[in-house]
Amino acid sequence: MSTQAKTRVAVIGAQGRMGQLACACIEQTADLELATRIVREDDIGTCLRESSCEVALDLTRAGLGASHGRVILESGVRAVIGTSGLQPNELRDLKAQAEEGQLGCLVVPNFSLGITIQQLCSRLALGFLQPQGCGDVQVSLEEQHHLEKIDSPSSTSLRTAALLEADGAPAISIRSERLEGVLANQTVAFKWGAETLRLSHQISSREAFGPGILLALNHVQTLNGFELGLDSAFGARMSEEGAWGRFCPAP
Ligand SMILES: NC(=O)c1ccc[n+]([C@@H]2O[C@H](COP(=O)([O-])OP(=O)(O)OC[C@H]3O[C@@H](n4cnc5c(N)ncnc54)[C@H](OP(=O)(O)O)[C@@H]3O)[C@@H](O)[C@H]2O)c1
Repeated sequence: MSTQAKTRVAVIGAQGRMGQLACACIEQTADLELATRIVREDDIGTCLRESSCEVALDLTRAGLGASHGRVILESGVRAVIGTSGLQPNELRDLKAQAEEGQLGCLVVPNFSLGITIQQLCSRLALGFLQPQGCGDVQVSLEEQHHLEKIDSPSSTSLRTAALLEADGAPAISIRSERLEGVLANQTVAFKWGAETLRLSHQISSREAFGPGILLALNHVQTLNGFELGLDSAFGARMSEEGAWGRFCPAP
């Protein structure tokens, strides 16, 4: 029998749809232990301290991620924020707090591994198109989500656009729809000359987020500061396995 210590994880928003999924994933993972399930009526700081947890995962209501992240870091606990809707100034504040405390803080607008691959492939496509004289390439984003999603455009589409704009794409328009019968779809479209390339991703069940939640809980334990997105966690894994090196030109 293994004597290796398990990492104790608190889930904030444990009764929500994502929270329940996260709790189930943690309970099924050998090196993690569900330290506490925190609900709306609880005082987060007190629960974190009393549970002696090492990592806290926030999956609450859009708009609460920044204040919850602040409390988690103030409690000396590593933070994974999956809650949507963090604003740029809130991300900056969390980054400063994590760096000052030398404590891992990972904000993940989307736990889906497919979305991370879509973002990487989109950046790769842009990187190939720009030097090919396709300087007038137009990039646009479409996202559809379920009717209960509060934030619009989605944090994921804003993050995808920001990554591509940082790579030199012209200002990207985002079309957002909230529809019945849809969970989460995102398409990145590149138009140049007489060609259109569309990279589409669909999620049909929240179970899609499970592997990314576990990857984030694992990765945050290696951080002594702030990261946004799973790119680094995923990129490191891809290069270890050789896939990124096989498909990408040398940096
Ligand atoms: N990063 C990703 O990949 C990803 C994927 C899907 C969703 N999300 C985001 O994750 C969040 C949760 O989504 P969901 O679908 O699980 O929503 P949900 O089903 O509405 O669950 C949210 C839960 O948070 C609880 N809550 C609200 N305020 C709280 C507080 N101050 N302290 C503790 N718990 C609190 C709610 O309790 P009450 O019902 O009592 O208010 C509810 O149980 C949303 O922001 C959503 O946009 C992220």
